[in-house]
Amino acid sequence: MKFGTKSVHAGVEPDPTTGAIMTPIFQTSTYVQSAPGEHKGYEYARTQNPTRTALEKALAEIEYGHAAVCFASGMAATDAVVKLLNPGDEVIASNDLYGGTYRIFTKVFAKYGIKFHFTAMENLEDVESLINDNTKMIWVETPTNPLLNIIDIKAVASLAKSRGITTVVDNTFASPYLQNPMKLGADLVVHSITKYINGHSDVVMGCVITKNAEQEEALRFLQNSCGGVPGPNDCFLVLRGIKTLHIRMQRHAENGRKVAEFLNAHPKVQRVYWPGFESHPNHEIAKEQMNDFGGMISFTLKGDLMEDALNVLSGTHLFALAESLGGVESLIGHPASMTHASIPKEEREKAGLFDTLIRLSVGIEDAEDLIADLEKALMLVKEHVSIGG
Ligand SMILES: Cc1ncc(COP(=O)(O)O)c(C=O)c1O
Repeated sequence: MKFGTKSVHAGVEPDPTTGAIMTPIFQTSTYVQSAPGEHKGYEYARTQNPTRTALEKALAEIEYGHAAVCFASGMAATDAVVKLLNPGDEVIASNDLYGGTYRIFTKVFAKYGIKFHFTAMENLEDVESLINDNTKMIWVETPTNPLLNIIDIKAVASLAKSRGITTVVDNTFASPYLQNPMKLGADLVVHSITKYINGHSDVVMGCVITKNAEQEEALRFLQNSCGGVPGPNDCFLVLRGIKTLHIRMQRHAENGRKVAEFLNAHPKVQRVYWPGFESHPNHEIAKEQMNDFGGMISFTLKGDLMEDALNVLSGTHLFALAESLGGVESLIGHPASMTHASIPKEEREKAGLFDTLIRLSVGIEDAEDLIADLEKALMLVKEHVSIGG
């Protein structure tokens, strides 16, 4: 099956009792047993729920994995993956990554004896130099959030494999439509389903996709033991969202290109971060490992003044100023004070994330309207005439 067909059909069977084409919302906390231990595969709804089962099957199929295990948020999924480790283990993570991931690593798990190293992963030697006998996991986010750097998944995964290290890819920014890390050698894939997979800004959820039964068992144990599970209503909404994932992503990518090109040609814009440009330092890798370049774009303004950035951030109308990404509606955000505020300024700037960076999640509206909205907001930026020359 090709991806579009999978998006529509994956995981979903007509309901055996009624023939309902849509998986019912099994709004129940428990299941009746005919005798102790005699049941239909469902005992208690933290452990199993049929709506969640259908969703997990769909997610495993669209990410080319063995199984998917769902959690109450993207962060709960990340939490479960790190809990696969033991005190003394070390993790190497990309240095440009979602602020909440940085926070859970450094503020939650570091105190339980897990050590985290952060590095730019474009240069494999930087990763290799951090590997030692305790290294158990490499955590990759690509495209990175918010600088849209591209990390070569195949190269990192093959280095990790040669040293017996697990490669985890947070594929939230790309979505399974644009990129399938399992096909490139990753061992585990994490998603904030909240974003593109659900796509309608009305659910918070996460998942981990695994490659084999052993990993699945370990994650199911954590799902049941720690209990951060999503409810059946939310699972139903995500199942519905997945049916249009391919169509939405096509439009996100089409609009992304138009908006990125508009910004790149705008006299008040200093730099546009988008992997679709041939001038992007890792454009060739992006072309190889992604099916398209997506609708996430960051940019800076000439003059690099906070006042100008704030004017643009509150000067759009269609681009709503809000945290998050990946919904059908366009969003504009300020990583330094919003999504990445949990990373210290000094660390942010080391990774190249400056205070005036603006991030866009380009939605699926008509591109002409989105461009007109940005054009209007950019009028609020002062002219910065270069002195001399
Ligand atoms: C790349 C990435 N990973 C993980 C998360 C966390 O997901 P959630 O907000 O669903 O907990 C986010 C949230 O913004 C994200 O952008």
